[in-house]
Amino acid sequence: MTMRTAAGDIEIVSKLGPDERLLAFDVLDGLTRPFKEVPPKHFYDAEGSRLFEQIIEQPEYYPYRTERVILEACAEEIVARTGAAELVELGSGVPTKTLLLLDAMRDAGTLDRYVPFDVSESVLLGSAERLVEQYPGLRVYGVLGDFERHLDALPVAEGPRIIAFLGGTIGNFPPGSRRKFLRGLARELRPQDRLLLGTDLVKDPALLEAAYNDAAGVTAAFNRNMLAVINRELGGDFDLDAFEHVAFYDREQEWIEMRLRALEPMVVNVRELDLAVHFANREEMRTEISAKFTRERLQADLAAAGLRLHALMTDDDSLFALSLSGP
Ligand code: AVJ
Repeated sequence: MTMRTAAGDIEIVSKLGPDERLLAFDVLDGLTRPFKEVPPKHFYDAEGSRLFEQIIEQPEYYPYRTERVILEACAEEIVARTGAAELVELGSGVPTKTLLLLDAMRDAGTLDRYVPFDVSESVLLGSAERLVEQYPGLRVYGVLGDFERHLDALPVAEGPRIIAFLGGTIGNFPPGSRRKFLRGLARELRPQDRLLLGTDLVKDPALLEAAYNDAAGVTAAFNRNMLAVINRELGGDFDLDAFEHVAFYDREQEWIEMRLRALEPMVVNVRELDLAVHFANREEMRTEISAKFTRERLQADLAAAGLRLHALMTDDDSLFALSLSGP
């Protein structure tokens, strides 16, 4: 699909089929395992995205705002070091931090193309329309797809490129898949291209746990919304009030784990999967891991993917890091 607008060029390519029952597979697979789990990508329906926008405003949730502070301080240098003409953004969502990078590219006179990659068509179109207006001459090439499976849909790079994967979302991958994903990214990079990666850092467990147990209960609502997604999309009959939010830091694995804990024994039916799921009293189902990094761990993961760390940027309190790496 190509759209020509008065303000500039927008092109959107779609890798998503009309009926990709990904949720169905993940729920069937995840709820029939000995330890139940549903992957975190299914949090983000309209309500989940709205709740996430609220999470990032909670005082306890430092990662989002800290990454922003780092980008504010470093965007100019990132652009100077790369001479980037293109910005690819994985899981682009609503462009906010993106603007800091695009501004720096415009000011450096190198800005040519923005390539947002997202699973939501409305998010892609909305940001594309806004950005071509805001940055005259900008070309937007949106990829509608799942970046875990569809990296091959990225357009051929024309100028020096930054692939940005922000927010710490890389932490959602378990360690093995993380390295595999990074290897896939590394394959997309030419020698002059760079990966700009946001990673949350290992720190006092109390601070970490507070960030995922905000006092206002927004993260709890976000977590339970996974059940509402299953109810709506797959005809489930989860009672959201019968589950409590659990989030804790696993010091050995160095990750935050989110779970939903059944408050009573029950059977949940998921009509479209023809599935009856038994929950024991206090049985837990994992909904997310969010890995935290040390410099060593990051460097080892990058090296395993064939990437060399060029710069590591952190805030004054070393809460969060942005890294720039390349082949
Ligand atoms: C969007 C994956 C970076 O792991 O901190 C926020 C998601 N989950 N609160 C994170 C999330 C609970 C967030 N990421």
